[in-house]
Amino acid sequence: LPDPPAAVQFAAGPSVRMSLAIATAELRDAGCESPRLDAELLLAEALRATRTTLHLGPERELTVEESDRFANALARRRAREPVAYILGRRAFRHIDLAVDRRVLVPRPETELLVEVALSLPRGARVADVGTGSGAVALALKHERPDLTVIATDASEEALAVARANAEALQLDVSFAHGDLLGALDDTPLDAILSNPPYVPDRTELAPEIANYEPPSALFAGSDGLDVLRRLVPQASARAPFVAFEVGAGQAEAVGALLRQSGMTDVRTHKDLAGIERVVVGRR
Ligand SMILES: C[S@@+](CC[C@H](N)C(=O)[O-])C[C@H]1O[C@@H](n2cnc3c(N)ncnc32)[C@H](O)[C@@H]1O
Repeated sequence: LPDPPAAVQFAAGPSVRMSLAIATAELRDAGCESPRLDAELLLAEALRATRTTLHLGPERELTVEESDRFANALARRRAREPVAYILGRRAFRHIDLAVDRRVLVPRPETELLVEVALSLPRGARVADVGTGSGAVALALKHERPDLTVIATDASEEALAVARANAEALQLDVSFAHGDLLGALDDTPLDAILSNPPYVPDRTELAPEIANYEPPSALFAGSDGLDVLRRLVPQASARAPFVAFEVGAGQAEAVGALLRQSGMTDVRTHKDLAGIERVVVGRR
């Protein structure tokens, strides 16, 4: 990092090393799961730098402005706001998405939903139902520009975030608003992907999720399957390839729904934690 101007240096606060130590302790006390990583990410942002730069200049002193920015971010994190909302972005596969409280923070396990779709035939027409930030639709279009990708959501607010991401990433994905497949016209589809809400109502969730993420992106009835029970038959009737992300312990029930809906080849894929996370149906 370049040295700050002398006047600022005079009024400067603690070093990078000290700031990180204090912040890590504070975030640990607040119950954050990865306090050191969070502190590094937030400090790097306050310094308009990268985490690597922090390690290269541990004695570098923060300017007053940087200290203020860091204190602000830390206060939000101490209140258990997700790091992604504080930074305003989240990496997903090979793209960076702008995120805020209008959309779910894209999760690493959802990358698997994109992965299973990479084998689709050239030029296939694919819908991502419940697109949120646009994560699945945009990452897929980024890796498979030959596909035609349509993304839907019941939330206009989420669609605004997804559209802005498509624009910023210059990815040609179209968007439609409405309930599940009701958002789409009758053009035939080759594949339907969805990471729908699947959390059982009244599940006790971490404060990051319970207090900040949109409930309409999370909850789906007493067993978490309310949305999938409607979506699986609709999707199976519309496309020969469907793939759904599901919650822990839901794969078997969703597999059964797929078979009842006429899918003959049903497979589940485990995420990195060994949980059956994506169920794929083909006919
Ligand atoms: C679990 S989030 C997934 C967001 C994004 N696809 C991702 O993986 O990060 C579920 C999304 O489905 C949307 N949704 C919920 N119910 C819906 C419905 N009936 N029809 C369409 N979208 C719905 C929510 O607004 C939310 O954006």
